[in-house]
Amino acid sequence: MKIEDIKNICVVGAGNMGHQIALQAALSGFQVKSTDASEVTLQKAQQFVDSYLPQRVAKGKLTEEQAALARKNISFVKTLEEAAQDADFVIEAVTEKLALKRDIFSKLDTICPPDTILATNSSFIVSSMIADVTTRPSQVCNMHFFNPALVMKLVEVVQGPHTAPETAEVTVELCRRMGKLPVLLNKEIYGFLVNRILGALSTEAVFLLDQGIASAEAIDLAVVNALGHPMGPFRLMDLTGIDLSYHIGMERYRETQDAADKPSPVIVEKYAKGEWGQKTGKGFYQY
Ligand code: CAA
Repeated sequence: MKIEDIKNICVVGAGNMGHQIALQAALSGFQVKSTDASEVTLQKAQQFVDSYLPQRVAKGKLTEEQAALARKNISFVKTLEEAAQDADFVIEAVTEKLALKRDIFSKLDTICPPDTILATNSSFIVSSMIADVTTRPSQVCNMHFFNPALVMKLVEVVQGPHTAPETAEVTVELCRRMGKLPVLLNKEIYGFLVNRILGALSTEAVFLLDQGIASAEAIDLAVVNALGHPMGPFRLMDLTGIDLSYHIGMERYRETQDAADKPSPVIVEKYAKGEWGQKTGKGFYQY
């Protein structure tokens, strides 16, 4: 697969990350099919696109023509078969559950044409934990976007031991053609670059909260005003989803069996209460 051959992109999962990755690809001129196992999620993704594009026009960020073209470029389809059968490149952006991702990759391997590249947007799971379910491990890699994907420039591309250099090169170039700034990791490592650094910050922030040293608001205020971050760790967890923090912790704990990797009590409590952040109207903050 060469970069010039990539016309059709399939994005599997239309949740927090998937709907914005799909729209970014459509805005960049690719033919995009967005799919999700949940009809409600798929409908919400479509509603987002239908309200976002006119807003961008009203704000002077897009012309009417650009918005109309982007809308034409993206379709929302209910089945994985329909979404992936003519894809040149697939970006999987489903929940952070290894078993689910493996199941989807094994299906994609049978549905997609033989030269299709299969990338995972996982925030933590390296693609070598998934690639072995396919007959094309050399065409599998990580392509990790950040939230909100329409805004954040960086994408981490991770070349696993199974990933062909051409696959990594094409993926890096695809990021550029999607208006993003790619960084290539030559080796796999759990959490890649950004989430390792962010994880260290968030773990410390949650420790300080758990110890009753300061409130979430005070810790956020400190990080924004002393470190110059655009938002503090708690507001950021509300944006990325406390359910995501919970699942990532649990997946890691299942793998390492190290109690230190378990999500902290405050994350477990918020997860159980359904206080998952912006998406549920309440997290560390009220929305
Ligand atoms: N979706 C799409 N666009 C959004 C958005 C959203 N949820 N939130 C804000 N924007 C856009 C706005 O439309 C606006 O665009 P224009 O300037 O082009 O008009 C721009 O972002 C700025 O928005 P605002 O002025 O409303 O707000 P802000 O200046 O406070 O910026 C922010 C909002 C971009 C989210 C900023 O606070 C920020 O950069 N926060 C940090 C985000 C971050 O760290 N992301 C990484 C998370 S870690 C991660 O993603 C890991 C993972 O594995 C999932």
